[in-house]
Amino acid sequence: MSNPFNRDLFNLDGRTAVVTGAGGGLGRVFAQALGAFGAKVFCTDIDLAGVEQTAKTINQSGGSAEPLQVDAADETSIANLAAAIEAAGGRCDLLVNNAGIATGKYRIHEMPVDDWDRLMAVNLRGVFLCTKALLPFMVANQSGSVINIASIAGIGGVSPQIPAVSANYSASKGAVIAFTRQGAAEYGGDGIRFNAICPGWHLGTELGREEVGTQTPEQIEAFLAKLHELTPMGRTGDPAELAGLVVYLASDASSFLTGQVIANDGGWSAI
Ligand SMILES: NC(=O)c1ccc[n+]([C@@H]2O[C@H](COP(=O)([O-])OP(=O)(O)OC[C@H]3O[C@@H](n4cnc5c(N)ncnc54)[C@H](O)[C@@H]3O)[C@@H](O)[C@H]2O)c1
Repeated sequence: MSNPFNRDLFNLDGRTAVVTGAGGGLGRVFAQALGAFGAKVFCTDIDLAGVEQTAKTINQSGGSAEPLQVDAADETSIANLAAAIEAAGGRCDLLVNNAGIATGKYRIHEMPVDDWDRLMAVNLRGVFLCTKALLPFMVANQSGSVINIASIAGIGGVSPQIPAVSANYSASKGAVIAFTRQGAAEYGGDGIRFNAICPGWHLGTELGREEVGTQTPEQIEAFLAKLHELTPMGRTGDPAELAGLVVYLASDASSFLTGQVIANDGGWSAI
């Protein structure tokens, strides 16, 4: 490694990144952060207009980004992504598995099986499919960083007083954490690191918007008050507050860090 006591430690020049679900929300922040630190970013999402917008902001800021319409839950669509990476020179150094959904809020005994299957197809099977398709580029290069976006719901149950988390969501994120640790164990010898970020409550994205839309203003106020009460820092996070962590996990600054699960949650999981 070059001089570690240097800002270049976080430099991503020459790296190629793929971010799934980059059409908005946290994925847009991850793509913009990696782009700002020098990576060429393939911004992927089912929402083409969203990724075009994300890529535009990166390119306008002097970075390099390409938008691609990719369904992270569909094998054919992911094969097209791998073909695009191949055509661009066959490099994929960084993968951020961010695409994820939430379904309606149900207790376990009332949850439609379809909601379970639909969510797992994206949040868990999608992480597997994207990782499987892009790992060969990293193995060929004997280097890479896979960053999986799990959730605080994957490390602990969430009180039913908070009407936003169901068991399918928590179970998918817990499985993403296990997948991350298994990946770290399997691919450490190939120079490929696997880590998971567990975001706490970062509001302002579309996740769970439908569910929140069914609440009265009083219920939303009570929901926010409960989040603040249960978070040691007394507030929710801004999506931009995840930028530093993703750059750290992508860069040489974390060169010996793998298999770790880092909660960015204002202390939620500390108590
Ligand atoms: N916002 C939070 O507070 C929070 C907390 C914990 C975890 N997370 C996780 O962070 C990730 C991003 O969440 P967000 O809050 O930005 O949500 P969001 O709904 O704002 O964004 C998700 C993005 O994923 C895309 N997407 C959905 N299904 C897809 C598919 N099959 N293929 C490709 N793209 C798809 C959507 O089009 C959207 O652009 C998710 O995995 C979520 O579970 C978010």
